[in-house]
Parts: sequence; C-alpha cells; structure tokens
Amino acid sequence: MPKTPDDNNIERLTEEYRILHKVAKILEAPGDLTTMLKSAMKVLTEFEDLRVESKAGIFLADTKKKVLRLFVTYGNFSQEFLQKEKEVPFGDCLCGRAAASGELLMSESCFSDPRHERTFSDMEAHGHYIIPLKGSSGLVGILFLYTNTHPSWYRHSQEVLLSIGGLIAGAIQRKQIEQELAAYHNHLEAVIKERTRQVTMSTNQLISEIEEHKKTQAQLRNLSQRIQEVREEEKTRISREVHDELGQSLTALKMDLLRLNRHLADKDAESRLNLMVDLVDTTLLSVQRIAMELRPPILDAFGLVEAMTWQAGEYQKRFDLTIETCALKDIPEVSPALKTALFRVFQESMTNIVRHAGASQARLSLGEKNGVIQLVIEDNGSGIGAEKVTDSQSLGLIGMRERLSPFGGEITFAGVAGQGTTLTVTLPLEKA
Ligand SMILES: Nc1ncnc2c1ncn2[C@@H]1O[C@H](COP(=O)(O)OP(=O)(O)OP(=O)(O)O)[C@@H](O)[C@H]1O
Ligand SMILES: [Mg+2]
Repeated sequence: MPKTPDDNNIERLTEEYRILHKVAKILEAPGDLTTMLKSAMKVLTEFEDLRVESKAGIFLADTKKKVLRLFVTYGNFSQEFLQKEKEVPFGDCLCGRAAASGELLMSESCFSDPRHERTFSDMEAHGHYIIPLKGSSGLVGILFLYTNTHPSWYRHSQEVLLSIGGLIAGAIQRKQIEQELAAYHNHLEAVIKERTRQVTMSTNQLISEIEEHKKTQAQLRNLSQRIQEVREEEKTRISREVHDELGQSLTALKMDLLRLNRHLADKDAESRLNLMVDLVDTTLLSVQRIAMELRPPILDAFGLVEAMTWQAGEYQKRFDLTIETCALKDIPEVSPALKTALFRVFQESMTNIVRHAGASQARLSLGEKNGVIQLVIEDNGSGIGAEKVTDSQSLGLIGMRERLSPFGGEITFAGVAGQGTTLTVTLPLEKA
C-alpha cells in the first residue's frame, strides 16, 4: 500500500522522538564529556530526515572574549580545517554568526552562501545546520552539522534541533561545573594536606622541645640535689671544726686563765680575770650553739625526734613561742639523707613561723601509717596566703619541695587567715 502524507508525518515524528530520546539518554549517562558529545553527534547524523552527512562538530563559546573554540568533531575533517577552525570570532562565517545572534542557521551550499566566508582547499559542496547551544546562563557553544546541498527543511525539525542544542548545552555546563568542583576539591585536599603537614611538623617540634625541657628539668633537679648534698657535707665539716678546734682552744684558754687566777695577789686583777673566764664560757656556749645549728650531731647520733626536740627547745628559749613536741615518733628506717632533708624542712618551717606567722604556739607531729611517713607542723599565726604558696619568688617553700622530691615526698601548705598555717609532708616509706 502506498504511503499517505499522514503516514510520512507520523514516521517523521517518531524518528524525531527516537533521536531526541537517544541523545537525552547519552547526555544523562556518566562519563567523559568528549566521548559523550561524539556519541550524541553520531546519533544526530543518523537523523535521516535532515539529510545530515556523517560530519559534525561542537565549538565552546568564550562569551567574554567573544570567540568560539573548536572542542570536538565527529567524522573526517582535514588537518587544514582543524587548524583554521581552532578559533572563530563571534560574527565570523556561519558559526560566528549563529553565536552572535543566538539563532539557528541553515545554509544550503558552502559555495553559493556568501555568509560561508571560510573556505578550505579540499572543500566539497555541502549544506549546514548551525545550532546555538543555549544553557541556563546563556550561550555555551555552537553545534554544526553537515548536510548535502539542497536539503528539505522542516520547521518542526528545527525545533527538535534547538531542543537537542539545549540538552547538549545543559550537559556541557554540568560537566564544566563538575570539573570546577573536582578542581576545587583537589585544591582543598592539597590545602588540607599542606596544613596537616605543617601541624605534624610543629607538633613534632613541640614534642622534641617538651622532651628537651624535661631533660633540662631533670638535670636541674640533679644539680640542686647535688648542691644540697655538698652544702650538708660542708656544714658538717665546718660544724665539726668550729666545735672541735674553737671549742678546744677556748677550753684551753679557760684552763690557763683559771691557773693564772690562782697565782694572782691583786684583787682587782683577779676580778678582771674572772670576768674573762665568764666571757670565755659564753663564747664556748655560742660556739657550741653555732656548731649545733650548722649540723646537729644529735641528728646523726640520736635521730630525728631528738634533734627536732632539741631544736624546738632552742626556739622556745630564744623566742616567745610554745612548741608542742609530744606527737613526735621516731621512724628508724629513715636514711641519713632523708633524715637531713626532713630536719632542714622542719628548720625552714620553724624559721618561717618565727619570721612571718607572729604565732604564740606551734605543734609538731611525726609518724608513719600504712607505709606513709607524715610530718605536720602547725602554728596559730596569721596563716600563709594561697598566693605565697604558688609564688615563684617563695624560694624557701620551693627549697622545701626540692629537698623532698628525690624521695617522692610531697608538701602542702594550708593557711587560714588569722588562724594559722598547717604544713604537711607525706612520703612513701619505701623510698625512705
Ligand atoms: N607559717 C607562716 N605563716 C604565715 N606566712 C608564712 C608562713 N610561712 C611562710 N609564709 C609566707 O610565705 C612567704 C614565702 O616563704 P618563704 O620561706 O618561701 O620565703 P621567706 O621566708 O620570705 O624568705 P626565705 O627565702 O628567706 O625563706 C613568706 O614571705 C611569708 O609571707
Ligand atoms: Mg622562709
């Protein structure tokens, strides 16, 4: 049965719908833009009704510089063509004109159409469809399709071509945005990588500085411990020399004076000599006291409790202060070095009470419970201020802490304004 005009129309519409659907599918699928556009152009060249030859291409538009740049072609094009068409200014030749006007352009023959300004040595007679690719933000590019000369134009097909142009423009824009996002993503990753590298570097530097600092602190602690030891040795030596040498010389002097006294007839001279004997006695007492305070031999001979009791007695005698010592219990396991440290802490603390507290009473206690040695010194004076306890200028308090730290000892100072201060030393017996 021969085809009627209606049959032809239906066939054409079906064909248009098929092509549109195919192109849309291709452009929706993920993948590389060039491959995608080549596939779309291949489908278009199958659009028999437009009599399109198997040749097409797409320019991308640089709307700022008003120039088209050849992006991708489908079919066989000569090197000369590819080279010459690399860039086409807006308004130039067919594609440039379509870019400038934004309108679809049709041309029957490249030889007879005066708008076809660009010619090539191997140019054969052909016609054109030039389709602007318009996206949401304007012109994206130009699609050109080759046709044979004198194609039959269908108004309807032009609309289909414009729709396809819109689809292609959308796909190009989407890909461009994806590329920009990917570039931005890469840039961000590089920035993060660089920041991570810097942070790692400065963290490592910080760690090594902290380690260096710790090392220095340990060295300083050792040095301070050594200085204390040397001071104690020195004090012991001076104490012994003052006591023995000076004490013996003074005793000898006294003996001589007493012997001389027996041979004196002059009463006046005798009483003056007696005065001299008294003076030697008080000097002897001073010598003994100085020697004792430098390093009480009682500490080494009889232990902490005896030494503290003796020292407390001395403070009571010299200052208006009552000191309670009944809670002192000896700890036989304590090493000589720790004994010295505890005694010096006690001395420094008593000196502070006398100098700063204005106290009338003090109470001492020393003992061991559950493997922990505890020394407590309380006074009823003004109460140490919290700021003094942490002050880096409180060298006396720092010295006390330093003396105890080699033994794992801890010291706290608790002051209540107007009521007094409690100093508490705790340290594990195993380090004693
Ligand atoms: N028992 C106390 N009662 C009240 N205040 C005290 C007592 N002990 C210490 N303080 C306060 O804490 C401060 C710091 O004491 P620390 O022993 O470190 O220094 P210092 O006695 O002033 O000087 P030094 O270096 O000669 O010991 C003192 O100046 C004083 O104000
Ligand atoms: Mg002090």
